[in-house]
Amino acid sequence: MNQENLAIIVLAAGKGTRMQQDIAKVLTSTCKYPLICHVLETAAGLSPEKCVVVTGYHEQAVKDCILNHQDKLYKFQKLSFVNQSEQLGTGHAALMAMPELKDFQGTVLILYGDTPLVKIETLKEFLKFHQEEKNTVSVLGLEDNNNAYGRLIKNLEGKLTKITELKDCSSREKQTKETNSGIYAVDSAFLGSALKNLENKNAQSEYYLTDIIEQAFKENQNVSALIIQDANQVQGVNTKNDLTLINQEIYRRKIQELISQGVNFLLPETCVIAPEAKIEADAEIGINTTILGNSKIERGVKIEGNAFIINSEIQSDTLIKFSSRIENSVIGKNCQIGPFAHLRPESKLGDNVKIGNFVESKKSVFHSGAKASHLSYIGDAEVGKNVNIGAGTITCNYDGKNKHKTNIQEEAFIGSNTALVAPVNIGKNALIGAGSVITKDVPENHLGLSRTEQRNIKKKP
Ligand code: UD1
Ligand code: MG
Repeated sequence: MNQENLAIIVLAAGKGTRMQQDIAKVLTSTCKYPLICHVLETAAGLSPEKCVVVTGYHEQAVKDCILNHQDKLYKFQKLSFVNQSEQLGTGHAALMAMPELKDFQGTVLILYGDTPLVKIETLKEFLKFHQEEKNTVSVLGLEDNNNAYGRLIKNLEGKLTKITELKDCSSREKQTKETNSGIYAVDSAFLGSALKNLENKNAQSEYYLTDIIEQAFKENQNVSALIIQDANQVQGVNTKNDLTLINQEIYRRKIQELISQGVNFLLPETCVIAPEAKIEADAEIGINTTILGNSKIERGVKIEGNAFIINSEIQSDTLIKFSSRIENSVIGKNCQIGPFAHLRPESKLGDNVKIGNFVESKKSVFHSGAKASHLSYIGDAEVGKNVNIGAGTITCNYDGKNKHKTNIQEEAFIGSNTALVAPVNIGKNALIGAGSVITKDVPENHLGLSRTEQRNIKKKP
């Protein structure tokens, strides 16, 4: 099928009462991307001649959302919107779209804005099925009745005769194995007339789109269902529980894709990896790892587990030890981070840097070979090559009003429990005595020491 004889209608007018939220259901995000945009992105991949989105509840917000995601969605030649001011059912919604298709002849693919996971290959196969069967109406169904979907009712000859909504089903009909995904391919001329004939004599007093199946059957038109095995692809979102299923499936697909590309996962089902994150082959991802945003994990990186990484780059062969949090940061090659390290935004680490347990860094640069191995806070600082920062060192960067910079030049050695009161500059190869409070610059090759001299006083007997 080519784009000249395919049109798509996306139904997105419903409120989504069962979601118990104010925003329109189709604007609910899954992995930061609204449901309707998932559907439209897939639709755009089919290059239809026309695509009509039926909006209604929070019409303007739905339109704005789609327009805001134009860059991803606008492969469409013609995308138009129609308004369904009263949500009288899926059949009524499709009817609203028909004036936009008055000059169109061919196949109309109908998608629901709340069913985001269907794959483009599945839709292509479905359209091929529709064409090969010479159907007037085709339904994409699934062999799973462990859901609240409409039931595909067949007669004794095995022919599809109608779809009955669960609420309208007899107890026998409820047992029907095959159910309705909410995706249809329909001949445009038939659709136009069938929608006008719909009635709303059902449990919900709605005009059901599904009733066009029975009309087609009664008119002796060809009508049948293509049954797919992968129920996840047609999971609709009607409740918050459905939304969690969608999220799980998106993350599952991402991890499967990464595994097929050579990434090692210890226990993939415990991890969450954002669809936009990049992980190179031969990286190793431990248990309970979350990687979000535009993160990049290079070859040979090992993440022990319990890590939370967002919008960060971790270069090759770096080891992230257990329970570290890394945000908006760049970590060089062959570094060691954690356990229990906290790299806050704008931490930038060169190669071979060591950030040990209970070390927090913020807006700081560590040049290659620098080390802060234990219990430190390094904020608004530049730490030179091979600098060693002793346990308990704190950059006192905030005076209550402003933030100030600490500059530690290469090869300097900061003794344990030092307070570096910023703004302050520690020269190259300087040495700071443990326990010092450094308020003045220390020149290159000098020892900086600021602590009261030790006195040993003999104890009274
Ligand atoms: C629908 C199908 C059901 C199918 C299920 C699959 C009907 C009557 N039932 O039920 O057989 O198994 O999807 O997920 O079609 N909408 C409008 N205007 C309306 C009503 C709905 O645009 O007046 C839109 C909604 O925004 C949504 C879609 O149509 O995107 C489906 O509506 P929904 O109420 O979720 O139908 P289901 O009860 O899920
Ligand atoms: Mg639904």
